[in-house]
Amino acid sequence: MITDTKEKIIECAKLPSKNEIKLYDTFDINDKNVTEFTHIIHKYPSKFIPQIPRWAIEEYSKVGDLVLDPFLGSGTTAIESLLYNRHAVGFDVNPVARLIAKVKTTPIDPLKLEECYTNLIININADTNIKENVIPDIPNITKWFTEESIYNLSRFKYYILQIEDQDIKDFFLITFSAIIRKCSNAEYRSQKTYVSSRFRKPPADVFKMFDRRFHQYLKGMSHLYNSLRVNNVSARVIASSAADFSLSDITEEPKVKVDLAITSPPYVTAVEYPAVFKLEYQWLDFFADSEINEHRKEYIGSDRYYVNQYKELQKTGLEQLDKQLEDIFKVNQKKSYIIYKYFEGMRKNIQCVSNVIKNNGKYVIVVGNNTVLNLEIPISEYLIMFAQQAGFELETIYSYIIKDRHLVFPRNGKGGIINKDWVIVLNKVN
Ligand SMILES: C[S@@+](CC[C@H](N)C(=O)[O-])C[C@H]1O[C@@H](n2cnc3c(N)ncnc32)[C@H](O)[C@@H]1O
Repeated sequence: MITDTKEKIIECAKLPSKNEIKLYDTFDINDKNVTEFTHIIHKYPSKFIPQIPRWAIEEYSKVGDLVLDPFLGSGTTAIESLLYNRHAVGFDVNPVARLIAKVKTTPIDPLKLEECYTNLIININADTNIKENVIPDIPNITKWFTEESIYNLSRFKYYILQIEDQDIKDFFLITFSAIIRKCSNAEYRSQKTYVSSRFRKPPADVFKMFDRRFHQYLKGMSHLYNSLRVNNVSARVIASSAADFSLSDITEEPKVKVDLAITSPPYVTAVEYPAVFKLEYQWLDFFADSEINEHRKEYIGSDRYYVNQYKELQKTGLEQLDKQLEDIFKVNQKKSYIIYKYFEGMRKNIQCVSNVIKNNGKYVIVVGNNTVLNLEIPISEYLIMFAQQAGFELETIYSYIIKDRHLVFPRNGKGGIINKDWVIVLNKVN
């Protein structure tokens, strides 16, 4: 471990143990391995690096414990929990996230996957008919996809849906989902799904792309499958809101409580998941185009509000936050309301976790502060205050530098770029 005192950044290969971490330390983690096991499966915006839940699991839980991630996303916490022989449970409102997380945490015999893939390709090659009945009703679909991509995607989808084994079918559906953006005319690198009018990206070939992803994912799955052979644990992915759940949603066993909770919640006014997954929702038959706006309301951090909701200034009871809400309200009433609703959602989430976690259980929240209308919102500080009201005390807080530029995204307000995340460890005391 090298400490650069000028920058006060501590370089390390692995995060040190909890006893060696001082309040407000900043780490630069050099371990670039973030795609091991099934972590490689599917892109997901604002994933956290596996090293963070891994650290929390090693420090604050033991074999056989139950680990909750209330904003599960693509399942990073759940994979690490299984690998460390802990049970995992998680919620998410995004159906694509839930399917990715389910696939990433369901070990499947790689030989079965290979056999199934061979049959899939044989079936598709033997049948040259377009499968009209599985093509989603995407408005103006030929803006989004070439005729050739639609033709090939329809054949893949049709034959994947014929697979009988549900776990194997889900694995192939996620492989299919992972190639949709690449095989469309939409920009690949941007989070929002849009077709550039200036430069039309050539769509990738469906067969080649599927083959590449399948082999990458197969390798990750073999690794997971072999590593979990001796572990007697499982993961559950639940379609529910992180701001409204109780113990009965998590476990049917009367005396069991959550031992450890780890999460990276959404950031205020940051990723619009429904805008990211617009095409995947429709090809996977989760939502029709006309239903996506309604679905946006389910997200903490959503901006789907009407004038009559935000014309009055709202207060949270936290003095410093209310002052910021007032300042923002003077310039932009809607933004003020969006931030208010974000913190209300997070407050409810922290209360729900407090209700289901055992005494002395830890809630580890990974979050960045962001800038709205040139105003820095210290999300981490406000979350600590809400947590104190909900029966937690602050155990420790440190930060780490975000390395992967794909995980760093501009925020509303000029130049609001998050380049480090805070790790807040809360201890349940009463
Ligand atoms: C920053 S991402 C989590 C990423 C995750 N740690 C991973 O590694 O993939 C936040 C997640 O919160 C989810 N989310 C937003 N509002 C939610 C709500 N009300 N209930 C449950 N999940 C929600 C989003 O769908 C998104 O997957």
